[in-house]
Amino acid sequence: MGSIRAGRLCPKIASWVVEVAQASTNLNYELVDLADWPLPMNDEPGLPALGVYAQEHTRAWSRKIASADAIMFVTPQYNWGYPAPLKNAIDHLDNEWKGKPAAIVSYGGHGGDMSAAQLRQVAQGLKMRLVSTMPAITLTREMILGGPFDPQKDFQAYAESIRQALVELVVELEPKA
Ligand SMILES: Cc1cc2nc3c(=O)[nH]c(=O)nc-3n(C[C@H](O)[C@H](O)[C@H](O)COP(=O)(O)O)c2cc1C
Repeated sequence: MGSIRAGRLCPKIASWVVEVAQASTNLNYELVDLADWPLPMNDEPGLPALGVYAQEHTRAWSRKIASADAIMFVTPQYNWGYPAPLKNAIDHLDNEWKGKPAAIVSYGGHGGDMSAAQLRQVAQGLKMRLVSTMPAITLTREMILGGPFDPQKDFQAYAESIRQALVELVVELEPKA
């Protein structure tokens, strides 16, 4: 989940994405909430690429990401980019992301496509194996302002692209001959 903002919509949206995913694949999913992973920006003196971490919270974060076979980012768009806590969480590690299959689901007033494009570039820099389908959920002004919504009903039009991204992710997870 890309957002840790107070009052964020991310948990509701990401939980729905996981529901869609669980219904369409046999994979196991774990929702990773960056709010549970405080990673100060100034307490790791080493280069992440060397993989030697001074802090136990960084080592735990490293183990968490290393243990995943694939990553689905579910992230909002903030000012044409993706949220700073997500960049911080990414930049705390390096090799842990490399070669990992990944999908990006974005959301925002126009689907969060600028956020997704930015995250795609960063993930490519980390040599993640990104799937080509990038579901982008458009939020109405009322939703953004905190109005009620039901992802199951209101986001039904996006379920197919999420399933397609998962089909591509599963292909990436299959052992190569
Ligand atoms: C700091 C900030 C910047 C935002 N910038 C954009 C933007 O560039 N484009 C957009 O469509 N929505 C933008 N929004 C609206 C968000 O898409 C919307 O508030 C969404 O719910 C944010 O995700 P979150 O609630 O999970 O944090 C912005 C919201 C915030 C808080």
